[in-house]
Amino acid sequence: MNLSVIILAAGQGTRMKSSLPKVMHRIAGTPMLEHVYQRSLELGADDIHVVYGHGGEHLRETCSDFKVDWVLQKAQLGTAHAVQQASPKIDADSVALVLYGDVPLIKTETLKTLVKKVSDNNIALLTVDLDDPTGYGRIVRDGDKVTSIVEHKDASENQRYITEVNTGILALRAGYLNECLSKIDNNNSQGEYYLTDIIALAVADGNQVFTAQPENSFEVEGINDRKQLAKLERIHQQEMVELLMLQGVSVADPARVDIRGDVKIGSDSFIDINVIFEGSVEIGCNVTIGAGCVITNSKIADGCTIKPYSVIEKAVIDEAVEVGPFARLRPGAHLHKNSRVGNFIEIKNTELGEGSKASHLSYLGDSEIGRDVNIGAGTITCNYDGANKFKTVIKDGAFIGSDTQLVAPVTVGKNATIGAGSTITKDVEDGGLALSRAAQRVVKGWVRPTKKKT
Ligand code: UD1
Ligand code: CA
Repeated sequence: MNLSVIILAAGQGTRMKSSLPKVMHRIAGTPMLEHVYQRSLELGADDIHVVYGHGGEHLRETCSDFKVDWVLQKAQLGTAHAVQQASPKIDADSVALVLYGDVPLIKTETLKTLVKKVSDNNIALLTVDLDDPTGYGRIVRDGDKVTSIVEHKDASENQRYITEVNTGILALRAGYLNECLSKIDNNNSQGEYYLTDIIALAVADGNQVFTAQPENSFEVEGINDRKQLAKLERIHQQEMVELLMLQGVSVADPARVDIRGDVKIGSDSFIDINVIFEGSVEIGCNVTIGAGCVITNSKIADGCTIKPYSVIEKAVIDEAVEVGPFARLRPGAHLHKNSRVGNFIEIKNTELGEGSKASHLSYLGDSEIGRDVNIGAGTITCNYDGANKFKTVIKDGAFIGSDTQLVAPVTVGKNATIGAGSTITKDVEDGGLALSRAAQRVVKGWVRPTKKKT
């Protein structure tokens, strides 16, 4: 059977107090809508329809890589009206699954269980038991059988004691869905077309409503304001960090690591507090990540130590490298095996060869640095003339004295030495010594100035 997913995302989300459509607000760095989209893909949906409204153009731009049918709901007349914008396009024999763009933590397994329950003109409804069901539509049963859903605002005093509530997530055959939608009116306290009325209609037709429940209630929690957004963010982070720990990663404090992307970390690695991972990050075994590091779209091999407050973006770090504290690795930085980068070092588009060291206060950009090179404190590659960028090549075994400027394009030969304080504008031959500083003078009879009396 074909599976079609309809994601409702047209609500304005006024309580977010935002110019952005609600479903564009992010959980773990990813728009809420994208979480729901990803789950739909994992379910193997044959087609996905997103019902959008408020701020829709912005939403479509942000999510332009989604393979979905975008359906505009011009006025938000209720959940049944929203579904009806998309459902007539769906093949009558397909199973239609209704999801919500503002319910981002739903799990694929839960949805699989639900979809399996759909047959003929029966409905599968996801419900959940809540300690405090205030505000939710209540599931009314006669014995085991579901007979209707009553919205909180329309519920009687007795019905308000019911703790089993509607999550809004349901699945049924598209042909039957359309048949029911055409019968739903807006005769209720909110004057809206309620999707939930479909339950009473199905029951009246002699069909059954099967229910499934999620493992955790957070899976079906919707986000209406920024407090709920932050709450679900923490729950999601906790879940991801727990997965890492189960895979053999030690974490100083699971509440103080943030994962905003796809992160793989090998066993016996240790993550200290306040570390942020973004995008696609791959970290090997026995790696230590110090406090306050921000690591984005990078690869770090086994046995590395990244000391506190280092910022690493689109960099590749080979085995047993030491970085930081306070290092900044920018896109294209590649640190080879056993190399070392110390404090206040910025590296961009540069190969730092095996065993080479830059320990203090340097900028290395657009460079190719060989093996066992020593970069003295305060070395700067002058790679930019204000218009174009040029390359610096430093060959194996070279020693660059402190406070050297290497004006690119320039090459320093194998085992060459640069005296401290030099400005190097010409290539230096293998084994050579280059110096460009002025000779030291002693000025006889010089007296230190003293403060004038006024
Ligand atoms: C809905 C259910 C309620 C359930 C609750 C769970 C209905 C009538 N009620 O109530 O039984 O307990 O969800 O959270 O279905 N939307 C549109 N277009 C519209 C109206 C809504 O796209 O015209 C979207 C909203 O963006 C939102 C979702 O549908 O994502 C739910 O709508 P909302 O009005 O918030 O329904 P609830 O009152 O939460
Ligand atoms: Ca809601």
